[in-house]
Amino acid sequence: MSAEETLAQLAGKISVCTNCVLNETRKKSVPGDGPADAEIMFIGEGPGFHENEQGHPFVGAAGKFLDQLLAQAGVTRDEVFIGNVVKCRPPGNRDPLPEELAACDEYLEAQIQTINPSIIVTLGRFSMNKFIPGAKISTIHGQMRKVGERFVIPMFHPAAALHQAALKPSILADFANLPDQLNEARAALGRKAVVKKKESIAPKNEKPKQLSLF
Ligand code: URA
Repeated sequence: MSAEETLAQLAGKISVCTNCVLNETRKKSVPGDGPADAEIMFIGEGPGFHENEQGHPFVGAAGKFLDQLLAQAGVTRDEVFIGNVVKCRPPGNRDPLPEELAACDEYLEAQIQTINPSIIVTLGRFSMNKFIPGAKISTIHGQMRKVGERFVIPMFHPAAALHQAALKPSILADFANLPDQLNEARAALGRKAVVKKKESIAPKNEKPKQLSLF
């Protein structure tokens, strides 16, 4: 099975999962979006209102800010994988409970193994705690460290930075460092950049029209 197929199969399992109570109130599960060969994986907390409606991660206000942050790092959504520690919305956007995090972890682990990213960026304390238990985000944000076979960079949650203006310069600076950190991670892991082939928009058997300069 290809990595794409494995991710699709996982998304199918997540959509009918009943491993925790969050399935009782979910409208749509949110398995995460992005290519199966993404070099960077962002892991947030859990779906909010809009994500639960649409089935996609970070599509509300925090998502708009995340788009700005990605631009700061010179990447677009279609180059990275964006997911969450829990795949179904905690009612009223409450914090996910330990048993919900534990129940959903097998899906996140399977996604990480399948995508095998060079870097995992944790957004907020719940995903940071999975990789760096007991750490304090205010002291280690933006710092890349090796955790197992890959690198982890803890960052503030975009929603936190939206609500606390004082965090905004830090999160912007942390995202601006990502390209250098990716190069560092690639070198340390002996990996090359994933070069994406640009899809031709010209119909098959038809040469792209040369635009006149005049
Ligand atoms: N906040 C998250 O942590 N994840 C989402 O998908 C949306 C908002």
